[in-house]
Amino acid sequence: MSLPIAVLISGDGSNLQVLINKMEERILDVDIKMVLSNRENAYGLKRAQAYGIPTCTLSHKDFSSREEFDGEMVRVLKESGVEAVVMAGFMRIITPVFLSAFPGKIINIHPALLPAFPGVDGQGDASKYGVRLAGCTVHFVDEKMDHGAIIIQSAVPASPGEDPEDLRLRILEQEHRILPQATQWLAEGRLRIDGRFVKLEEDDVELAETDGTGLVNPPLEYGF
Ligand code: GRF
Repeated sequence: MSLPIAVLISGDGSNLQVLINKMEERILDVDIKMVLSNRENAYGLKRAQAYGIPTCTLSHKDFSSREEFDGEMVRVLKESGVEAVVMAGFMRIITPVFLSAFPGKIINIHPALLPAFPGVDGQGDASKYGVRLAGCTVHFVDEKMDHGAIIIQSAVPASPGEDPEDLRLRILEQEHRILPQATQWLAEGRLRIDGRFVKLEEDDVELAETDGTGLVNPPLEYGF
């Protein structure tokens, strides 16, 4: 049975595109019921429409509070039969109104090795800081921004002073691998949250793997 999900976006939607592709290839056991954006000019909406996936734009400016905005998002998603949510470049902090509607079923991709460099420009902050290892993280969402328990991370080498755009693109390449993997584990019901820890059931694999582009832990399955 495919897990009915919604994908929340605010921009280009390259992560969304990978989820759509893997769903179409039947590698990802999800059914994307809705793509929701808080920005009507988000290119990701066009990507979804190209595959006949329902879309919705809700401008947070039309609501008097975050809770009211979240309440409307919940109404739209529940009406579409959504059971889990993937935040892929959704630039809004969500409230307990949204969290309590999908308990333990909301994940987010962040372009830095959390807990380092939370916020809207994780790659840029890491680059400016002069790190030697940068990367990305998929985590469960809780009431604090970029704070929830970590599911999977991928680290990429960084050279101080390199073009931040080059680093952003190398990190994005890893995002496109770990987000569908984490989404698949969510769809299989293999993720167990234990306080700050996320246990991957049947995780008898060895630690971390690298293919030269990124060091990923836990290792990827299914050729993601
Ligand atoms: C990604 O880098 C994601 O980690 C961050 O926003 C960006 C969205 O990219 N939160 P896209 O819209 O999926 O291309």
